[in-house]
Amino acid sequence: MKGIILAGGSGTRLHPLTLAMSKQMMPIYDKPMIYYPLSTLLYSGINEILIISTPHDLPLFEKLLGDGSRLGCKFEYKAQEVPNGLAQAFVLGEQFIGKDKVCLVLGDNIFQIKINTLTSCKEVEGGIIFGYHVNDPERYGVVKYDEDFKVLSIEEKPTNPKSNYAIPGLYYYDNSVIEIAKNIKPSARGEHEITDVNKEYLRRGELDVRLLGRGTAWLDTGTFQSLMQANQYVQVVEERQGRKIGCIEEAAFKMGYINKVQLLEIAEPLRKSGYGEYLVKLANS
Ligand code: TTP
Repeated sequence: MKGIILAGGSGTRLHPLTLAMSKQMMPIYDKPMIYYPLSTLLYSGINEILIISTPHDLPLFEKLLGDGSRLGCKFEYKAQEVPNGLAQAFVLGEQFIGKDKVCLVLGDNIFQIKINTLTSCKEVEGGIIFGYHVNDPERYGVVKYDEDFKVLSIEEKPTNPKSNYAIPGLYYYDNSVIEIAKNIKPSARGEHEITDVNKEYLRRGELDVRLLGRGTAWLDTGTFQSLMQANQYVQVVEERQGRKIGCIEEAAFKMGYINKVQLLEIAEPLRKSGYGEYLVKLANS
């Protein structure tokens, strides 16, 4: 399975923070935002990853993450000229995906989910999306279930949501997603909507919606408030547990993409901030 991180967009809800700098490069406590979705892919068992961003921001992501070999991975980069929707990821990524399955994660979504929940999604036939109970479902794609948790409907940013279950920015699909995405027409707001991709899988009877329970965390970072909350959440959990969220080097080590010697090499230049110390402890534990 291949992975795609969608890290473009215009970030208008964070202006002026994002006037000159990409949202996904903003700090979330002790690391750049993109580390979090990247670690979600690594923990899913995926190490071939395409990073999509604006032509302006793409070189910065390349500088930050390189070709991935340092982490035992292969990273590729692709520009999205105009931010015309999430479903475009599969059209831009067609060659990269090839004949494989693919996981898409949004570059501004932070997850804390059990590794086996993530790795089990590699077996996807059709599509897998998630439902997460939130206070403000009208901001998201919303999924409605019947009593047997069968999906009844999916709606994009509904004014009157039929449930409190929002759909987080993490999607696993089989290879037909490319053909489905190519046939999506732009919505009223002019975007190629991921919701329309999911509706097509639902129509085909091939959409599996899994509930993320109370023990999991899903944070988005699109507004000043949610950005601040994500920073605080990561700080509180990391300081309390002495364990990091979204640490890509740890993910690469735990998933076996790199060995102890490679982890220590990465750690050395990062020791002054304490981040490197953490990696050294991990290598020696
Ligand atoms: P959004 O938060 O929906 O959009 P945005 O980041 O442009 O922000 P705003 O609403 O404040 O203007 O995007 C979700 C994620 O997907 C985010 O990581 C940006 C990314 N994205 C793209 O890379 N390309 C796109 O065409 C769109 C719509 C979003």
